[in-house]
Amino acid sequence: MSAAQPETTGPDLTLGVAVDTLADGKILAGHVGEDAVLLARRGDEFFAIGATCTHYGGPLAEGLMVDDTVRCPWHHACFSLRTGEALRAPALGPVACWSTELREDQVFVREKAAPTAQARVAPAPGSPRKIVIIGGGAAGFAAAEMLRRQHFQGGLVMLSDDEAPPVDRPNLSKDYLAGNAPEEWVPLRGDDFYSEQGIDLRLGTTVTGIDTRAREVALADGGKVAYDRLLLATGAEPVRLPLPGSDLPHVHTLRTLADCRAIIARAATARRAVVMGASFIGLEVAASLRARGIEVHVVAPEKRPMERVLGAAMGDFVRSLHEEHGVIFHLEDTASAIDARQVALKSGDMIAADLVVAGVGVRPRLALAETAGLAVDRGVTVDEYLETSAPGVFAAGDIARWPDRHSGAAIRVEHWVVAQRQGQTAALNMLGGRESFDAVPFFWSQHYDVPINYVGHAETWDELAIDGEIAARDCVLRYKRKGRVLAVASIHRDAESLLAEAAMERELA
Ligand SMILES: Cc1cc2nc3c(=O)[nH]c(=O)nc-3n(C[C@H](O)[C@H](O)[C@H](O)COP(=O)(O)OP(=O)(O)OC[C@H]3O[C@@H](n4cnc5c(N)ncnc54)[C@H](O)[C@@H]3O)c2cc1C
Ligand code: FES
Repeated sequence: MSAAQPETTGPDLTLGVAVDTLADGKILAGHVGEDAVLLARRGDEFFAIGATCTHYGGPLAEGLMVDDTVRCPWHHACFSLRTGEALRAPALGPVACWSTELREDQVFVREKAAPTAQARVAPAPGSPRKIVIIGGGAAGFAAAEMLRRQHFQGGLVMLSDDEAPPVDRPNLSKDYLAGNAPEEWVPLRGDDFYSEQGIDLRLGTTVTGIDTRAREVALADGGKVAYDRLLLATGAEPVRLPLPGSDLPHVHTLRTLADCRAIIARAATARRAVVMGASFIGLEVAASLRARGIEVHVVAPEKRPMERVLGAAMGDFVRSLHEEHGVIFHLEDTASAIDARQVALKSGDMIAADLVVAGVGVRPRLALAETAGLAVDRGVTVDEYLETSAPGVFAAGDIARWPDRHSGAAIRVEHWVVAQRQGQTAALNMLGGRESFDAVPFFWSQHYDVPINYVGHAETWDELAIDGEIAARDCVLRYKRKGRVLAVASIHRDAESLLAEAAMERELA
């Protein structure tokens, strides 16, 4: 999605700001000409960078300063205050950077500097000459982008069985599906990016095998591609329920841009939809179809939507939010058969539907890893550097089960930002770096105008502390075990969400 251009606010920073009005660790929103710029102070140093996040345009001046970085309040991207570089996904592009000058008791913002990316890995003997990435999704794209940003000069091949270049997948259940975002916002980069960056992106290319001894991958068309380092980032695929009628043309799942286009095409004439599953994707789809004026029924076996992840109180809120928008729930029930006109439920109810979307979960695509003999345990097992049991072969994203230092468990999650950050870390380590993946997991979900942010990871908890009011859409929920905060969910409390993330990071320091 394109970044929105916010109106410029605050003082003209070129005219000078009194030093004692900006305390250490604080940020001031201002502007330089038409550019929204933030001025930040760290001790006696002053930094000025663009104030608009390159992900979706979040206001960085309302973010959190941590050392010499600033974090975006919306989805926790992190930018260097020194260079403007996007250090952490989901932002991948830098913001502009200005020099500052301290004169007497005033600080002035001066020249705009060209963006620079600091090489984080020193070139070492034995560096790879050719890197192959299997997967053109969140992790694969972020890895390729980081490899080039780190000045990797060798061959870089990205193989994807999708026909579309890497897309902003989260948008496929939100604004794009709702009809609120044009399709040009969906690709992560324009077509020229790949040729300009020397990324050999091969779309519609299925990898069928990996020979870890010969260090080559086999393609469905009989071709082979050799590698020095390999990144497996094959993601996940939607579960298809084995129901009579689930292969009918009006029954859809949603993972790819093609899936999304097919739902949009059907939605043009559909009047009543059944969404199977009250998961994040199912409910985002429900919200988007409501935005298109379609009657929506959600069928799911659980008592409350999202209760397993967010708890009962948030589950009740999510349900009432969707009901306010006209969604009709059929909970503690499941579909038993689908035909061209209706969906039959186990309870005996029948729902007329000319569009059905199954959002009943995904399965990680592990077949390649399994047949290659890599260690697999409900995901591809990786170490803290995201390397698999085969030296030189890394895994990232929805397929990777990594030793999470925050929870002390080996976990696998299906979050966009985690996949991207793992792709970035894997890139550094494929170049010879030794960077542990220790980012705090983060995801967001959007329902109508209500964003839900979640940091940390809590599969179970023994205490749920609620601060604020969920119904007023102004709350922080802390999921604790034995008094320790494992995860924090929030609505419209971005600052607290950022602080919670920083506190979880400090626990490891
Ligand atoms: C509609 C939708 C909305 C979402 N919204 C959110 C959200 O709001 N917030 C959030 O945190 N997460 C969200 N997610 C989850 C998020 O998109 C995933 O966690 C993320 O995409 C995982 O990245 P990945 O790189 O592991 O896999 P993917 O992005 O799925 O990419 C996998 C790639 O591997 C390719 N591939 C697989 N097997 C092969 C093979 N054998 N040969 C060649 N290529 C292969 C695929 O074609 C694809 O290009 C959403 C997911 C969907 C589907
Ligand atoms: S808008 Fe900044 S991280 Fe999404």
